[in-house]
Amino acid sequence: MGKATGYRIISYGEMVTDRPRIDAYARALQQAIGTGTVVIDIGAGTGIFSLLACQYGATQTHAVEPDEAIEVARTMSGANGCGDRVEFHQTLSTKLTLSRPADVIVSDLRGVLPLFQHHIGAIADARRRLLAPGGVLIPARDRLWVALIEAPKLYRPYAEPWLRNDYGLDLSAGQPLVVNTWRKVNAKAEELLVPPQHWATLDYYSIEQPDVAGELTWTAERTGTAHGLAVWFDAELAEGIGFSNAPGEPELIYGQAFFPLQEPVALSEGDQVSVMLRADLVDDDYVWRWDTRVTAAGDPSHVKAKFRQSTFYGAPISLEKLKRRGDSFVPQPVEAAEIDRFVLSLVDGRTSLGEIASRLVGRYPQRFARQQEALTHVADLIERYAGR
Ligand SMILES: C[S@@+](CC[C@H](N)C(=O)[O-])C[C@H]1O[C@@H](n2cnc3c(N)ncnc32)[C@H](O)[C@@H]1O
Repeated sequence: MGKATGYRIISYGEMVTDRPRIDAYARALQQAIGTGTVVIDIGAGTGIFSLLACQYGATQTHAVEPDEAIEVARTMSGANGCGDRVEFHQTLSTKLTLSRPADVIVSDLRGVLPLFQHHIGAIADARRRLLAPGGVLIPARDRLWVALIEAPKLYRPYAEPWLRNDYGLDLSAGQPLVVNTWRKVNAKAEELLVPPQHWATLDYYSIEQPDVAGELTWTAERTGTAHGLAVWFDAELAEGIGFSNAPGEPELIYGQAFFPLQEPVALSEGDQVSVMLRADLVDDDYVWRWDTRVTAAGDPSHVKAKFRQSTFYGAPISLEKLKRRGDSFVPQPVEAAEIDRFVLSLVDGRTSLGEIASRLVGRYPQRFARQQEALTHVADLIERYAGR
């Protein structure tokens, strides 16, 4: 078993009803599946791609999903007559081994953008270990696009609550944090202030590195106020089959990522804008950085705006917490740690959860009044290590 990702079943349902996305995936699968095809569905969720693969005649489909949602997929497989043609693996793809590589690997491990958690590492690993030579990857590639947008409404949460209120309070301390965060939006085509620029292509047939960096430059073609960057992707699932998340296209589940500017910038025709945008995977999440420089039309020495922004600066963090994570911090023993150490010392591959819980109650009667309480604690702790 692997780690549950926390999507609720209702969210998997929303993914299934995202028609342009599912229609495109269905067409790509249908095109890739022939007699004898073996498919791996990475991140199967409630199994939509596995069921489609089965319907299109795949001999064998491996549905891979760490979340408990896989139980629903299992039931649906029975309900759709897929029986032993879909095999379920409740784990991460990176832990999966198969005796025979697959002809097709299908997945959608993206968030708002494909730069999401360990998506790229998981696909690169699956391509290397689980895909037969000449096999098909769905999606084949994603192209990322960036544009400056004029969107006062989208910008409001970055200014209004922090810079003015009717109570005479100074709330400005929140603003430097919030302008260093991004969020999902649904931008409109008319909000684009400049033509979109291509930022990066993620070619899943060759990609190795999860980090992306690139500079974008524009010459403003009209007057307007730049509030931030919209970032989105176009997916190519197979040749000629895909979908676009561009503002103005039919709305998809992904939307666009909105990166606010530190302050809105009034642009005149001919102004030069350059943005260095980078995304670096750190532990389980991306740290984003967007450095913006705007110079006046015809006068590069006149800098109208210069911002350095990063999600690194977006979360409040106390000095105390920083200290507690520092190299020289000496942690003191606390009872909670002793309890967990005691539980882990009893994990020997022979002792049941119930026995461990009984020993826990015996050792810490003040902390665990009832066996059930101890059992829940032990089960939660053990689950953290399951599948690692
Ligand atoms: C966005 S959902 C997609 C669900 C379904 N395939 C769809 O497209 O409607 C992504 C799923 O991938 C799973 N997941 C993420 N990384 C994974 C990995 N390396 N191996 C297997 N599943 C993974 C998550 O638990 C989540 O359920």
